[in-house]
Amino acid sequence: MEYPKILCAAIFVVMLSSAALSAPLMSTTELLIRLELAPSLANATTEMKNVYPFIASNTNLQDTMLLLGMVHTQICTKNMQLKDKLSVAYIKLSNFISPLYMAYSYEEIQGPQHNVLTQLLMATSFYLNSTASTLRHEILKNGFSVPGGQNLSEAQLDHYTRQYLQALVDNKLVTLVITDDVVKVYRNYAILYTLNDVIKQVYTCVTASQDAIDYQTFQKATQTSTQSNSPTEN
Ligand SMILES: *[C@@H]1O[C@H](CO)[C@@H](O)[C@H](O)[C@H]1NC(C)=O
Ligand SMILES: *[C@@H]1O[C@H](CO)[C@@H](O)[C@H](O)[C@H]1NC(C)=O
Ligand SMILES: *[C@@H]1O[C@H](CO)[C@@H](O)[C@H](O)[C@H]1NC(C)=O
Repeated sequence: MEYPKILCAAIFVVMLSSAALSAPLMSTTELLIRLELAPSLANATTEMKNVYPFIASNTNLQDTMLLLGMVHTQICTKNMQLKDKLSVAYIKLSNFISPLYMAYSYEEIQGPQHNVLTQLLMATSFYLNSTASTLRHEILKNGFSVPGGQNLSEAQLDHYTRQYLQALVDNKLVTLVITDDVVKVYRNYAILYTLNDVIKQVYTCVTASQDAIDYQTFQKATQTSTQSNSPTEN
């Protein structure tokens, strides 16, 4: 009898996946964000700083005050109706679809040294799109109407970025020659940085309902099953 442990883990994983499947899509959204979108966003942000050291070399640039793309300021509260929570989450995330794709498109044409960053931005864009689609599906499934986005144009984003950089330079907080490329690169960084904040706000909108599996349980269960399945157990 050497299989019970593995069997146990297998059953647990099966139970876990059925729990995840039968749980409302709200929690699927949360898992999607925590397991896919947030990690790839974090990696893309780190890689931005590797490829463009001028950002990491100055805290005013790195910990930016330029909240770019956060045009929707409503936040979710506990007592909000499901319809409103889903709407707020959807608007917040879908507003970033176009800006994030802008960032990807810029890097895509920068040559082979930017391949890693390009791949990370593409993955982040993909996961953002998937998360927004999941939310959209959930909204329609509940018979609600899908709210419209309100994103800023590329010209507007560039304009705000240039103003922010100019203010830093004028106040001698950074030494920088503000070229068009510097503006676009920093715009892209600010988009990633702001999206990270927006994701935190979205968690309050899509947090799992009581019957849904929570993230800690999910993570612990995955770790446990990975360990029990590891070859060292044999
Ligand atoms: C992010 O980077 C870590 C460490 O380099 C890596 O293990 C992980 O797979 C990456 N995740 C994504 C989503 O790119
Ligand atoms: C995400 O969606 C936008 C808008 O529909 C699209 O242009 C873009 O190609 C998508 N991103 C990826 C990685 O597929
Ligand atoms: C966002 O902006 C892009 C480019 O300006 C545009 O193609 C897209 O339709 C806009 N999306 C929304 C929801 O307004």
